[in-house]
Amino acid sequence: MTDPLAYRCLELGCGGAPLIAGSEGLSCPRGHRVAFAPGSTVPVFARQRHDVNEYTRDDAAIIHDNALRWVFATFADDETALRTRLVARLRLAAGQRVLVTGAGAGNDLPFLIRGLAGRGEIYAQDIAEEMILTGWRRHRADPAAGGVALHFSVSDAADLPFPDGYFDAAYHFGGINLFPDVGMGIAEMTRVVRVGGSVLIGDEGVAPWLRGTEFGKMLICNNPLYAADLPLALLPAAARSVQLSWELSNCFYVIAYSVAAGPPSVDIDIPHVGTRGGSIRTRYFGQLEGVNPDLRDRVYAQAQRVGMSRVDYLESLIRAGLASASTTD
Ligand SMILES: C[S@@+](CC[C@H](N)C(=O)[O-])C[C@H]1O[C@@H](n2cnc3c(N)ncnc32)[C@H](O)[C@@H]1O
Ligand SMILES: [Zn+2]
Repeated sequence: MTDPLAYRCLELGCGGAPLIAGSEGLSCPRGHRVAFAPGSTVPVFARQRHDVNEYTRDDAAIIHDNALRWVFATFADDETALRTRLVARLRLAAGQRVLVTGAGAGNDLPFLIRGLAGRGEIYAQDIAEEMILTGWRRHRADPAAGGVALHFSVSDAADLPFPDGYFDAAYHFGGINLFPDVGMGIAEMTRVVRVGGSVLIGDEGVAPWLRGTEFGKMLICNNPLYAADLPLALLPAAARSVQLSWELSNCFYVIAYSVAAGPPSVDIDIPHVGTRGGSIRTRYFGQLEGVNPDLRDRVYAQAQRVGMSRVDYLESLIRAGLASASTTD
């Protein structure tokens, strides 16, 4: 059974109110409804229109199965070994709760189930109802799941219907290059993971040092997604212990990180020794107005003559100037 607190109302003004399950869908206390996809118990928060791309066709999962076979044959890699290796980077433990975004037909679910050692919860989401419903059909009654509860939903990975810090880990492989807003996709995965939890993101992207080679050019000509830049600059300030690897013949990037409470904190008051002096704080927060450059050069020269750093000398001049100003007030 889904935790009644898991799914949240996305309507503006509802402040992420919990959604309660009924026979035809979920509803919030203010009456907003999220219907189940026909013939299922899979809530649909947002979905792509039918047939707009290869993931929203009736045979989407078959196309995707063929595409995966092509990938692993082309790069001569083993799908089980790769997915096992990626899931291991989340360092899951029994009883944990994991989110999979862009889960497609659920190809990662057996590996995440194994990572949870038989106990826990997995929430799989995708914006293509056709894909996730196939995932739901293929995996919902998986006897291997044992004590791992599986939940499926249709939503945009850039607008997730879950509370902050709800998951121990979030996992994504293979679709983020297609997100209209990659930064929001990463921000949302980070938001819903607790402090200390893990996030993993991977997709196509020929390693930069191979882009200009014939190898890279062939791959990119075959599918422009192989030209995707890895989204390192879009990681959140709260990312720590960031690990990057290149998989599948250096044609896929994988970024894993743990989530901290905020940006790193450093001591900004350690004084610099040397000509300039000052500290991170004084250099950033203590900048003065522009002064006559000849005067500036004389001050610097005098600081050197008296053996003081520029900052210490300037501060002594300013202090002396202020002291004499206050005595003449
Ligand atoms: C290549 S498939 C990968 C499926 C699965 N992760 C796997 O490894 O087999 C990419 C998936 O990303 C999904 N996707 C694309 N944009 C999305 C978005 N904004 N939110 C959620 N899923 C999205 C697609 O619908 C598709 O099912
Ligand atoms: Zn609501």
